[in-house]
Amino acid sequence: MHRRDIERRLQEVAGFEDPRIDLEQYPTPADVAAHLVHLAAMRGDLDRPVIDLGTGTGVLALGAALAGAPAVVGVDRDGAALATARANAARLGRAVPFVRGDATRPPLCPTGPATVLTNPPFGARRGNEGADRAFLGTAADLGVVSYSIHNAGSREFVEAFAADNGGRVTAAFAVELDVDRQFEFHTSERATVDAEAFRIGWDAGPG
Ligand SMILES: C[S@@+](CC[C@H](N)C(=O)[O-])C[C@H]1O[C@@H](n2cnc3c(N)ncnc32)[C@H](O)[C@@H]1O
Repeated sequence: MHRRDIERRLQEVAGFEDPRIDLEQYPTPADVAAHLVHLAAMRGDLDRPVIDLGTGTGVLALGAALAGAPAVVGVDRDGAALATARANAARLGRAVPFVRGDATRPPLCPTGPATVLTNPPFGARRGNEGADRAFLGTAADLGVVSYSIHNAGSREFVEAFAADNGGRVTAAFAVELDVDRQFEFHTSERATVDAEAFRIGWDAGPG
């Protein structure tokens, strides 16, 4: 499926019904999700099992399935988000399993090389600092390749983390996350958050 077609289908994905700020439940916009999975497909990274950590609405997992991944699973610790993801899978007609678990202590152990996709909590809220670091740690454990989204200005941290954990950043690009008003402290109907996405090859990964 072409990137534009993936994006169009992902626009049907429903957002969080009752988003939790403690879990930083912001949905990944359809255009960003489509960009990420399209790139992964072009690099052959969807030919192996795909794990979406902190799957939320399921948009990255479903995008991977639309982009041709034969085996995809989404993991989130929030049952309500998983119910939304399952409803989204039904809406898009994709049989993606969504399982409950802590992405920082994953309940999964792939038997072979896997690709990890994640738009983790950025750890921007007090008490949540370092949340994306823990997700990257899991990506290093489970994946030979990962694609992750982080706060703008994270490149140095991501490169250093990868280097310390047997990985190497092989692609980096800026993304804009359009966020609709969903929490009381949001002062405008829509805001754009500058962010960065990274592809990391881990250990024996294709690099
Ligand atoms: C920024 S949101 C992105 C969600 C999803 N990628 C989407 O676009 O809908 C982060 C997600 O991580 C989940 N999450 C936060 N901490 C988690 C943890 N320790 N284990 C699993 N999921 C977690 C949240 O519930 C939320 O769905």
